[in-house]
Amino acid sequence: MTPESDSYVVRPGRASDAAELARLHASVQLQAVTGGQPHPGIAAWVEDLLDGHPSVVPEDFLVAEDAATGCLVASLVGLRQYWSLAGVRLPVAQVELVGTAPEHRGNRLTERLFAALHQRYAADGVPVQVIEGIPYFYRRLGYDYALANDGAPTVPAAVLPAIEPDRSNGLAVRPATVADADALARIDRRLAGGDVLLCPRDAAVWRYEISGRRPADLARREVTVLVQGVDVGGYLVHGSRLSAAGELNVFAAATDRSADWPQAAVAMHIHLAQVGRRYEASAQEPFTAVRPILGPEHPLVRLSPAGVPRRPRGWYVRTGDPADLLARLQPLLRARWQAADLQWPEPTLIIDMYGRAARLEFTDGRLAGVTAMRGAISPSTDPGTHAAIPPGALLQLALGYRTLPEVLDTWPDCLLRDLRTEQLLTVAFPRVPVQVWPRN
Ligand SMILES: CC(C)(COP(=O)(O)OP(=O)(O)OC[C@H]1O[C@@H](n2cnc3c(N)ncnc32)[C@H](O)[C@@H]1OP(=O)(O)O)[C@@H](O)C(=O)NCCC(=O)NCCS
Repeated sequence: MTPESDSYVVRPGRASDAAELARLHASVQLQAVTGGQPHPGIAAWVEDLLDGHPSVVPEDFLVAEDAATGCLVASLVGLRQYWSLAGVRLPVAQVELVGTAPEHRGNRLTERLFAALHQRYAADGVPVQVIEGIPYFYRRLGYDYALANDGAPTVPAAVLPAIEPDRSNGLAVRPATVADADALARIDRRLAGGDVLLCPRDAAVWRYEISGRRPADLARREVTVLVQGVDVGGYLVHGSRLSAAGELNVFAAATDRSADWPQAAVAMHIHLAQVGRRYEASAQEPFTAVRPILGPEHPLVRLSPAGVPRRPRGWYVRTGDPADLLARLQPLLRARWQAADLQWPEPTLIIDMYGRAARLEFTDGRLAGVTAMRGAISPSTDPGTHAAIPPGALLQLALGYRTLPEVLDTWPDCLLRDLRTEQLLTVAFPRVPVQVWPRN
């Protein structure tokens, strides 16, 4: 990678960077929590990421080296994974561990690392990048809020003991072992065919989540399985300690059969109450609540005791190529239009994204292909343009975060040629519930 100035060299990570990267990130991340001390959970996470993590190779880190000293002074990592958007397999990179040593801040190192990362994903065909983090900051780097994976009410610990165990109907929750990995992968494969946004794990990844991480790794979770006798019928993934607020986070929950949810939710809440009390005893900190990092429409949340409402946080998302994203969604668009019995009477439909455009081609009323093209100079007046949609709005639509009526309500520069276009695009982009527990 070419140095961009005399002072710093930006390059891919190497396995031999592990100790230095662990030190760098432990001393810059979550410093408000440690009071300025190195964070052992961050150090262990970095070591895990550079030591056989199933979603990362050392080159997935990008680092900035001080050219004068050779020291690593800034870095980030992208974790490659596939998500399933209502059955369509979507390559995604989850960006983590963005950090610059204090004495090197303000030199555009983060900006340069992201530019290199985006260039890499453009070349490798990874259409979507996701990051959680500092409010507004990543907008400056081309990200928009276009996903929310939480917003479920927090359930106070005090209401949990009221759950009646006999309503679990023989379902119970126990810690997972690596022998459960195949069953967990099978459940994810089935869920990935459903109408949600999901990050499915295969058996190797489940094994890693169950037993592969260092105990101190900040990203380590407790994986438990829902069982009836010896049969594995679901999973529940929660924190391995209480948060600073005394909350027990829940990251994922699933059942193999949706009919099991009423009993499964009882068994899961009983388990969470037991775990919360156990953590309370060992940490000698009060267990205050169960905090599902799940959407309000998640079955576990709908079947939960009443909690305290929370405003959903947003996740930042970026795509370098919205037309490519649409092209990947073709099977889904076709299925949605077919289910609504909708056909398009013209040979093409042009969606202009103010700079770039996507040309949707139709044969006998059915979608036959999507290609990228240059946008019109003035899409709002161009007679060949059917829809002018700002790229951020298109991303929200494509991921099922906002519906077309919501986008039309909030984006005056989202313009549609006629009612027929509006009808087609409304059906193309329904809201999709998010059940993503990302790989990190
Ligand atoms: C956030 C961080 C990575 C920025 O690194 P950097 O290399 O200095 O960033 P750049 O030089 O590319 O960009 C600097 C710009 O970002 C802004 N910025 C830096 N930290 C910021 C923050 N926490 N919130 C908002 N803006 C911030 C600076 O004010 C500067 O703005 P300007 O261009 O208007 O002067 C660095 O401050 C850091 O390591 N912080 C601690 C770890 C952290 O919070 N990581 C992010 C986790 S999501």
